[in-house]
Amino acid sequence: MVQPLVLGIETSCDETGIALTRGLDLLTDVTASSMDDHARFGGIVPEVASRAHLESFVPTLDAALERAEVDLADVDAVAVTAGPGLVGSLTVGVSAAKALAVAIDRPLYGVNHVLGHVAVDALVHGPFPQEFLGLVVSGGHSSLLLVRDIATDVTELGQTLDDAAGEAFDKVGRLLGLPYPGGPHVDRLAQTGDPAAIAFPRGLSRGKDLARHPYDFSFSGLKTAVARVVEGYQDAGQEVPAADIAASFSEAVADVLVTKTLTACEAHGVNTVVIGGGFSANSRLRALAAERLGEAGVTVRIPPIRYCTDNGAMIAALGSAVVAAGLPPSTLDITIDSGMP
Ligand code: KG4
Ligand code: ZN
Repeated sequence: MVQPLVLGIETSCDETGIALTRGLDLLTDVTASSMDDHARFGGIVPEVASRAHLESFVPTLDAALERAEVDLADVDAVAVTAGPGLVGSLTVGVSAAKALAVAIDRPLYGVNHVLGHVAVDALVHGPFPQEFLGLVVSGGHSSLLLVRDIATDVTELGQTLDDAAGEAFDKVGRLLGLPYPGGPHVDRLAQTGDPAAIAFPRGLSRGKDLARHPYDFSFSGLKTAVARVVEGYQDAGQEVPAADIAASFSEAVADVLVTKTLTACEAHGVNTVVIGGGFSANSRLRALAAERLGEAGVTVRIPPIRYCTDNGAMIAALGSAVVAAGLPPSTLDITIDSGMP
């Protein structure tokens, strides 16, 4: 049986992503990014991102349809990120998706961006096991999910109470004088430093904090600890040992993420973890996850990096899962939910 052709639309932050899937087959995936327009401001500028989506949307859609050699009229369902994300960016995507759904008279599905980061892995590594954990780590989110069915049965075990993992890296990048976004720069620098040089705090990992927040994360205290160390060297007129700081900081973040994920695997009797989101590019997280989860007999699935950063394939994949599960479509009055849980 031919599976429905699903158009996936992602515009929650700075990437305009459009993709087409049939079940677990990815026909095409086209992404336009406005990151270069934001870099000089040292952070994403929401208005700039919204305008860029407006400009990129039609060319990106045209490119996707052309590459997949399909007609818009062949699309069976339209899936779009309804949240979480930037209000203006989401609004562009959801408005465009409504217009397309009306134009071709097909159902519209508003879906959750964070779940998309997990769903996309099935396009690469095949069907999911009956039960698994999803660890979604990016510049905007750090969530640990217990997944029984990506379309219908997901429980959030924990999330960050303050900064996301990538966000903490970007802030530490700024403290160390590295360009924005600092994450990849800090990662590269860390590989030349000593991860045991400085004992940085592991947030929510001990005593009452751990008991109350077994699967939640907190990285803002860690970022403050890094700032204090950097200031200490600067005040003493000494050279800041940036590589050692980057390595010790990376170790602290990866350690907390992997330790809590492993604890959750044991508590729920789960032996597969899917890691998604742009931060999954982090070399220390990858190494530590492979080592410690691997030792415990847990299979770690991480899609290639272009499917970890924001893209349309993740939304088309989730859309395909939602259609396959037979969930009712969204109505045309759906709105965005920038803080969607
Ligand atoms: O998923 P993504 O592309 O966008 C968001 O939805 O946030 O994630 C980008 C985030 C940025 O904070 C970036 O600095 C971080 O992931 N990042 C990294 C690495 N590559 C990207 N952080 C640490 N190490 C990396 N190798
Ligand atoms: Zn994302």
